Amino acid sequence: MQNLEDLYEIRNRNGTFIDEYALGYSARVVRAMSFRTGQDTAFKILRRERINEVDVWPRFVTEVRILTALNKNRVAVRMFDCGFVSDHVNEFPISGHIQSCDLDVDQFISQLPGYREQGWRPYIALELIPLAHNLLKLIRGADGNGTHALRLPTEEGLTLAIQFSDFLQEMHSKNMVYIDHKPEHAYWDGKQLRVIDFNVSQIFKENISAPESASLVRKDMANFVKGVLYTSFTGLDFRYQSQGLAPSARPSDPTNVDKTFGQVNHLDFGMQETLLPQLAALINRAADSSSNMTATEFTDELKKCAAAMGHGRPGYPVTKDATQSREETLKGLAALRDAQNKLEQARDHFLTARELCPEIEENRRLYKATSEFYNHRVLP
Ligand SMILES: Nc1ncnc2c1ncn2[C@@H]1O[C@H](COP(=O)(O)OP(=O)(O)O)[C@@H](O)[C@H]1O
Ligand SMILES: [Mg+2]
Repeated sequence: MQNLEDLYEIRNRNGTFIDEYALGYSARVVRAMSFRTGQDTAFKILRRERINEVDVWPRFVTEVRILTALNKNRVAVRMFDCGFVSDHVNEFPISGHIQSCDLDVDQFISQLPGYREQGWRPYIALELIPLAHNLLKLIRGADGNGTHALRLPTEEGLTLAIQFSDFLQEMHSKNMVYIDHKPEHAYWDGKQLRVIDFNVSQIFKENISAPESASLVRKDMANFVKGVLYTSFTGLDFRYQSQGLAPSARPSDPTNVDKTFGQVNHLDFGMQETLLPQLAALINRAADSSSNMTATEFTDELKKCAAAMGHGRPGYPVTKDATQSREETLKGLAALRDAQNKLEQARDHFLTARELCPEIEENRRLYKATSEFYNHRVLP
């Protein structure tokens, strides 16, 4: 039997978990260095207090199965290892034994009942994705309190939407649905989407055209546009659209997911007057849970919207003017991002100066003014 310390060094022993920005319901996540690879991982472990809940165990099996099936997909977070740990005294394991199953999902599934009986907990070691790219964090802005919620520029939002829709298309073709769509589960670095947390996802038995599977797919599409796309294009939470509130982290009980998403069938884009009308209409079509739009059809329509914005692809022609206009937009966005980064650097310099010499009051004014300027930035 192996000791935990032989495989992983759990970081942040002072108790700071990497999940604190957006706590999950079933698991805690802590940074852990893998001695096998020398890399830091996001070590996701069943919450101690949920060990006796019957529903949480199958969710870990689903997550491991889905991550295995999507191991070659560039959107899904990479799984490096899975298994069980014996330490249930501590909130996150710091000693005791470990049974690593590596990437062997069948071994994980077959050993689970035995380890469960012994009071061990399942873990999944995942690729660590930077918090700075978290969609919720991006949208809520630097002040972090959501008062200056930001939206993605349409150019980027469309790229994110197409990557996400392609990703769902792949999941659906493999008889899987994501379901638990939240901004805190998506990461965006400006070019590439990444998705975490397949705990509430489902694998269905029949093929996609069977009525029950088709209804799950419809639900997945509706949850996706409400939970992720509405926020990306407005900076708002679909549940509080009339109040104009930015989303906040919601560690929801997975059994309430249907209720949360079921309350809303129409998305109001009225406050985003410049958003492409056909894009708003498209998102609303998918938000209607009686619509039969598949991820394939949705991707196709998104590509048409992108073409209207000057982003041509084979099969989606654009005019010369629109192409040139988009090139200018891209240059503008790049320059804006540079400017924002400089502003952020300036703010941090004033902060350090202030901390070093609090009696020089001028730095307080400069920090405060720069900070406000930065909080009113245009891009997430
Ligand atoms: N691979 C990862 N990289 C970085 N942060 C992560 C990763 N996985 C999870 N987290 C953080 O931990 C939180 C909880 O993880 P999650 O997988 O959502 O657990 P749960 O299944 O309990 O909802 C996430 O909201 C995120 O902030
Ligand atoms: Mg979660």
